[in-house]
Amino acid sequence: MNTPATSATAPQPTHEIWGNWKMNPTSVPEAEALARETVDALRSLIAEDPRFGRVNVGVFVPYIFLPFVGAIVKSQYEEDGTRLLLGVQTMHYNDKGAFTGETSPLMIKSALSAFGATPTVLIGHSERRQMGENDVCVNKKMLAAYKYGLRPFMCIGETKEERSTGSTNSVLERQLRMGLADVNPEEFAKHKTVIAYEPVWAIGTGLTATREQANDAHEHVRGVLADMLGIEVASQTKIQYGGSMKPENAPELLSMEHIDGGLIGGAALSAQSFIGIVKAVPQVLIGLK
Ligand code: PGA
Repeated sequence: MNTPATSATAPQPTHEIWGNWKMNPTSVPEAEALARETVDALRSLIAEDPRFGRVNVGVFVPYIFLPFVGAIVKSQYEEDGTRLLLGVQTMHYNDKGAFTGETSPLMIKSALSAFGATPTVLIGHSERRQMGENDVCVNKKMLAAYKYGLRPFMCIGETKEERSTGSTNSVLERQLRMGLADVNPEEFAKHKTVIAYEPVWAIGTGLTATREQANDAHEHVRGVLADMLGIEVASQTKIQYGGSMKPENAPELLSMEHIDGGLIGGAALSAQSFIGIVKAVPQVLIGLK
């Protein structure tokens, strides 16, 4: 197995590009094929230009496929050092108990660690919010992630109505302040928390925020984080854009100052288009961030 450099010596990742498979695909063979193709495409990209090794590339997979995908990811890493990161799409905030159908932070930690993966979890995706999760629930999950040692990606974003009535910034601020209530800046930084800005109107619709709209929202998010957690933590936080990102629009979005990556739904279901987005990280930025 290739031994990764220690965190003291390793250059820090410059961008976070993650696929969110959502409730896809529909069979184990398809999930295994997608995982293999994604790792293969990532390996080829890094072989072509090793600088892409500084981009954190991962996938949030459905729980039921975790053992199958995890085995592929682990064996590829052991074989040639290609590291596809792994996460899950939601979790419960309790550690165990009578919560039929739910998955606890401790279970996630144990299962992801078994595949050598940093336990990573998406929290507050707008599709979960549409199913009833609110800011208070998101906050409980964020606090649980830190308590049990998970790396959280917290999703925020405004609806079409909120944007059209000019309340985008206030909605984002409320989601950040409530979702991160009582979060300690050191815990936030230590677990390399990512904020995913995903305008609800752009998710799965083919509509994408313009690069100016996205960058303005990200700058606002960074400002609120600076106020809540301090300028240093805010400046180091990776803020992803999500919402119909694809290889065609990724170069212009990823070239913006405050956009540090992408959370990719539809386009992550094809390894070629997903890794095409990784390839769109401006090479000049790898190393500058
Ligand atoms: P999309 O989804 O890329 O299909 O718009 C993004 C997301 O929901 O994370």
